[in-house]
Amino acid sequence: MKSLEEAYQLFEEKNRQAELGGGREKIEKIHKSGRKTARERIYALLDPETFVEMDKLVTHRCSDFGMEKNKVSGDGMITGYGKIDGRMVFVFAQDFTVFGGTMSRANADKVVKIMDMAMRMGAPLIGLNDSGGARIQEGVESLAGYADIFYRNVMASGVIPQISAIFGPCAGGAVYSPAMTDFILMVRESSYMFVTGPEVIKTVTHEEVTMEELGGAMSHNTRSGVAHFVAENDEQIVLMIRELVSFLPSNNMEDPPIQPCTDDVMRQDEKLQTIIPADPNKPYDMKEIITSVADNHNFFEVMPFYAQNILTGFARLGGKPVGIVANQPAFLAGVLDINSSVKAARFVRFCDCFNIPLITFVDVPGFLPGTVQEFGGIIKHGAKLLYAFSEATVPKITVITRKAYGGAYDVMSSKHIGGDVNYAYPTAEIAVMGPEGAVNIIHKGKLNEADRAIAVNNYRETFANPYKAAELGYIDEIILPRQTRLKLIRALELTQNKNKTNPPKKHGNIPL
Ligand code: HXC
Repeated sequence: MKSLEEAYQLFEEKNRQAELGGGREKIEKIHKSGRKTARERIYALLDPETFVEMDKLVTHRCSDFGMEKNKVSGDGMITGYGKIDGRMVFVFAQDFTVFGGTMSRANADKVVKIMDMAMRMGAPLIGLNDSGGARIQEGVESLAGYADIFYRNVMASGVIPQISAIFGPCAGGAVYSPAMTDFILMVRESSYMFVTGPEVIKTVTHEEVTMEELGGAMSHNTRSGVAHFVAENDEQIVLMIRELVSFLPSNNMEDPPIQPCTDDVMRQDEKLQTIIPADPNKPYDMKEIITSVADNHNFFEVMPFYAQNILTGFARLGGKPVGIVANQPAFLAGVLDINSSVKAARFVRFCDCFNIPLITFVDVPGFLPGTVQEFGGIIKHGAKLLYAFSEATVPKITVITRKAYGGAYDVMSSKHIGGDVNYAYPTAEIAVMGPEGAVNIIHKGKLNEADRAIAVNNYRETFANPYKAAELGYIDEIILPRQTRLKLIRALELTQNKNKTNPPKKHGNIPL
């Protein structure tokens, strides 16, 4: 019979073994490359002393390829729960020191367990990914484990926020679970995502591409639009996750967390009065308006490197989290194209899932013309944004700063698709199209240069302003730019008990 001391020692020893994962040598290798281990990442992410690990002693059950002789407690997946700013979250982290962080049946079951718990308890799920994909030795059992996770990602979508951080390689099946979560964060020059790697690509398509070009952080943040954030290193990525979580409710039944407002709600910014150039063709930076009106000038931008003609991100107004969507006239004149429509549509839907009011700033000359856009399906992709804004039932507050032309006027959270409070600046131009284009069509070939200039001016006077729309009640109020912060905060107060539901249905059919 073991003495009590021996029993406790055995317990300590088993814990110690589990915490070493794949061993000191492999841990050192990770540290030498400037990265952290899975366990260290969890500790950095969560409030101190709050992490509770589950299934620490689980091992794989595979006996092919001599695997029965090679078992590590925890099986390369650390799972559990803890707190961020005192709020409960569930976490899993793949441990690259154990079989390259690959997915086994046993460690998939660990993830499934905390996903089910996260759903039951109504708390966000955060995955820290660093994995070679399906564990080859386990064959279809690994694929089954992945599929169990994918299925739960879908069931959890819109119920609890799901966040994926990519720290190292994520190959094959390892990318599809992150792809179905709400946000993906990557680390510059050390994280990679691809379905098939450079070697396979070379064999199949004869293309030569590096890991970085194919699936590096900047490829997914600038070109593919798969990722939403890029961090410089392992330390920064966890801080970004903590900030992201601070804007989100724990689940879809809660409102987003209100923080005490340390900024003056009455604050007026005179700089805003001159931010819109007198020349309607001159660009300006919409971010200046957003940061001017946000509490403490803080705008947490989502997808800052992708489709920069539209801005998406979180801010607080009077302490309340809001989602911001804004055309960016400083980039491609703020035009709507395929990528910006898809980027904004997904963001709008996220905010709507999680009761985050939407503030939309509009300065859009229309949809981008051209065969690339038309053949690429701008009709269907632009429709996604129209669909997303129309179906969103959260408070929707819109400010037209300058251009709101054509279909893009309708799309950008207009009154007609459910805008609750629609403001315009005196500089707003709300019409079917810009004066030049309109005159070219209406008076095609009929006017000399001088008459054409007069016609353009007449059109501008009559239509390129907010007053027609205001006369018709499509704009609730014309406001001065310096009043924007206060007006938005008042509109949020007005809409805080908004009660709107869409007709009951299984689900809509968004044009995918
Ligand atoms: C089992 C694996 C593995 C895998 C890596 N390892 N990938 N073990 N199954 N899929 C092991 C290695 O044998 C090694 O073990 C350890 O992990 C570290 O791997 P290294 O190659 O030494 O590390 P590195 O040079 O950093 O390269 C990492 C890597 C590379 C880029 C991830 O290992 C790689 O390309 N692996 C294969 C990736 C892949 O093709 N996965 C797709 C699987 S199919 P030791 O014991 O030496 O430390 C798939 C389909 C699922 O995922 C579909 C679901 C829809």
